[in-house]
Amino acid sequence: MTSTPPRPPGPSGGPFGAMNLIRFQRDTLGFLTDVAETHGDIAYFRMAAFHFYLVNSPAYVRELMTPSAQGGKVVKWGRQTATWSNAVGSSTLTMEGEPWKSHRRILNPSFQATIVKRYLDVVTRHTKRRLDAWQTQAHPSGVEIEMMFEMMRTTMGIIADIIFSVGDIERDAADQNQALTAVFEVLTARTTAFQQMPLWMPTADNRRIAKATEVIEAFILPMIAERRRTGVQCDDILGDLIAAKDEETGAQLSDREICNELKTLFGAGHETTALMLMWTLHLLSTNPEIQRKLQEEVDTVLQGRVPGLDDLKRMPYTEKVLNESMRVYPPAWSLMVRQAVDDIQLGGTTVPKGSVMLIPMWTIHRDSRIYPDPLRFDPERFDGDWKKRYPPYAFFPFGGGPHVCVGSHLAMFEGQLMLPMMIQRFSYEPVEQPEIELQALLTLRPKGGLKIRVVERK
Ligand code: HEM
Repeated sequence: MTSTPPRPPGPSGGPFGAMNLIRFQRDTLGFLTDVAETHGDIAYFRMAAFHFYLVNSPAYVRELMTPSAQGGKVVKWGRQTATWSNAVGSSTLTMEGEPWKSHRRILNPSFQATIVKRYLDVVTRHTKRRLDAWQTQAHPSGVEIEMMFEMMRTTMGIIADIIFSVGDIERDAADQNQALTAVFEVLTARTTAFQQMPLWMPTADNRRIAKATEVIEAFILPMIAERRRTGVQCDDILGDLIAAKDEETGAQLSDREICNELKTLFGAGHETTALMLMWTLHLLSTNPEIQRKLQEEVDTVLQGRVPGLDDLKRMPYTEKVLNESMRVYPPAWSLMVRQAVDDIQLGGTTVPKGSVMLIPMWTIHRDSRIYPDPLRFDPERFDGDWKKRYPPYAFFPFGGGPHVCVGSHLAMFEGQLMLPMMIQRFSYEPVEQPEIELQALLTLRPKGGLKIRVVERK
């Protein structure tokens, strides 16, 4: 008979950890913060059938993420990836093992730092179009803009152009946005549901996700079919994926596989980037001194021009602002969940086979032991050799290890172009509105959106 190794402390949550599940579902971030603050670097708690370890220390996160560290015994959480792939199809985001390696090898070339530069024109063109629209609304005292949807439609336009060369997504933006929101909401709830209803049952959630998938696929599938039919070759990701061969196996993706990858890239590739920019504008609107400093950098370097590739390295403060914004509000806060497929050691703790490890960017990025006065927005934290000042995995908005975000270079490239363009033409002020309520879905959203006053700069 095998005995369970001693577990680290954590909230008991009563029978089956039911209270933990209720607290987690009611206020996910509050619950995780409370567990981390009360129980330290590693805590154990149960929720329904699952045994969770909250890994609240950069050193332990490193042990989990470094490819060789746990000898292949750590994988993405099976329930999370199965929930997503059963409902919307499997892709690089949900795969593990050899199939994942093959898909990742196929995706990587399209997203290298040097390659994403080919999208300079796409990013600046879509951003300019959005800013021109704000300008026509402008009033001397500014206009209130619901920034979450505004950033989403902009980054959705960009990613649609990058992936499928769709130059204007405006007609489809609202439907696609609504469909993706439904996917995020239903999948978040399903992942942690006490009991998952089979997808064939006609429940409200099942109908919602089926409808949402239909809307997204009705947008994507005809584009794949059209490319196959016409044989037209485009310099975009759909073109890359149709042509791509796994360099090791020679395998090519089927249309179904391409569709599933494109759905992921379309969703993951704009929602997170939009939230990064929206939270950044929010933080700048509430920290006018920092906004002024950013304006100075942008005005000095660009002198009113649209940014070009050479300008990016001449605007280091822009990068610091984006990093600090993602420290405070990590857009993809929830993606870092792993499962032990065998017993593993984490520090002095044995984490038994089957346990699920939550790697909470939210609490590590806000840990006062690493970041003094952690809630203060201070881009100088990312000054100079910050990578040496903080331990590895003290800041990891794009994850790490072999599964590190494939789109990280693209996301930063977009941010470093879009933010200066937005700062160049407008300033941002807070709007009186009910206190922001965070909605911790797969991504970190403000519930009901977030308004910001946009004032044209003289
Ligand atoms: C600010 C923007 C973004 C943030 C904060 C972000 C964050 C993340 C994080 C935390 C992960 C999980 C890493 C892990 O499990 O270790 C991830 C994975 C992924 N991201 Fe992003 N992401 C962003 C933008 C993008 C973009 C622009 C794309 C593509 C167009 C993208 C595509 C993906 C894919 C395909 C994966 C799965 C990678 C794998 O498992 O191999 N992301 N991202």
